[in-house]
Amino acid sequence: MENISSRENFGSKFGIWAVAAGSAVGLGNIWRFPYLTGKNGGAAFIILYLFIVVFIGLSAMLCELAIGRRAQKNSFGAFKLLSPNGKWHYVGLLGVVASFMIFSFYSNVAGWTLEYIWQSVTGAFMGKSNQQLSQSFNLFIANGPRTIFWTLVFMLMTAFIVMSGITKGIEKYSKIMMPALFVIILILDIKALTLEGSNKGLEFLLYPDFSKITAGVVVDALGQAFFSLSLGMGVLITYGSYIGKKDNLGSTALSVSLTDTLVALLAGVMIFPAAFAFGIQADAGPGLAFISLPAIFQQMAGGQVFAFLFFVLLAIAALTSTISLLEVVVAYFVEELKMTRKKATLIAVASMSLLGILSSLSFGPLKEITLFGKTIFDLLEFTSSNLLLPIGGLFIVLFVGWFFTTKELQLELSNNGSLKARFFPVFLFIVKFIAPLAIILVFLNGLGLF
Ligand code: PHE
Repeated sequence: MENISSRENFGSKFGIWAVAAGSAVGLGNIWRFPYLTGKNGGAAFIILYLFIVVFIGLSAMLCELAIGRRAQKNSFGAFKLLSPNGKWHYVGLLGVVASFMIFSFYSNVAGWTLEYIWQSVTGAFMGKSNQQLSQSFNLFIANGPRTIFWTLVFMLMTAFIVMSGITKGIEKYSKIMMPALFVIILILDIKALTLEGSNKGLEFLLYPDFSKITAGVVVDALGQAFFSLSLGMGVLITYGSYIGKKDNLGSTALSVSLTDTLVALLAGVMIFPAAFAFGIQADAGPGLAFISLPAIFQQMAGGQVFAFLFFVLLAIAALTSTISLLEVVVAYFVEELKMTRKKATLIAVASMSLLGILSSLSFGPLKEITLFGKTIFDLLEFTSSNLLLPIGGLFIVLFVGWFFTTKELQLELSNNGSLKARFFPVFLFIVKFIAPLAIILVFLNGLGLF
């Protein structure tokens, strides 16, 4: 294993948490989790989701961190090094492709948050009726030049940070952004809970309606868990490769999963009470954050300030995630194609922006271009989060469960025996049997084959 000592490592435990939790916490928590919860039966969906995070997500995350730190390489190179004669490196490549796709559509929604920050500064959505708000959102996303502009701005912000390096870029900015995110979300939660009539929303979050749980919902929950924890696509392999040999992978996986789940729940606590207090549908779909919330903000005292804070929150959450997506591709370009970091970042972002532009346009001029009834944006989202991530996740757990020797795995997780790996047998059992089976069953179920 060449290169171990010359590889840049994250500087501190706090830094590792900020960077990895930064990747996990994103639009998935604040924008996607609440609308999926609203659509799929409130608390029932949350319970199912928590179950998946604890019994599958956590172990899958640990697998990725272990692969990355063991190999000290990007996701493709890691598999190549650990299994020189196998075909496993295709799993790493799948991760690079998935990152590429997610970065492209995700930056669109991230770009919308910039537009809405701008609108909350200018007060553009104040005084509009619900119908006008929904109209202006639909007009905005259909406006190619404008959405493309914001998408590109967002991509360039991400590029700037990734280009600055691991500790001086990614870690430095995450250490500022993650605490800021917590402060903002707590302010918004307190505001939401003190609104009159907010307890109806809390009830919705707390009372499970299990009749809503169907096979499709289980697939949704699994897809959401993988997406939200940034699993199955090499992000945590790549980040794991920058974690020092003395750091504790188990506690990193635990704190990152906890943070991610906590922020999703806090986002629910912020959105549902507010939605119920103002009589807005909780299952409004993806427009929830961009239509329903502005409707709420403009009815509340100090709404413009809260709107500004909310969209800044979304933008920060998105930025720490796009950084990690870009880093997967950049690390691959730097190490496998021998580019400088600067060149790798520029080439990666330039090519992703082409796909990003196409998905921006798929809300307007390219709306009619569809496959299986899905637009370019929908296709990118569906393929990457419902297909590629679980498939990647499946092969990653299989690799760790069946290809690594137990001894090797135990040494990696216990830092060569210096840590007590108490849950190792449970972890091994999950990784060998439960996680792969669950992922396969849920898949067959979703395809109607089981
Ligand atoms: N986890 C991020 C979110 O919840 C999205 C993401 C997925 C980031 C996969 C990186 C990799 O928004």
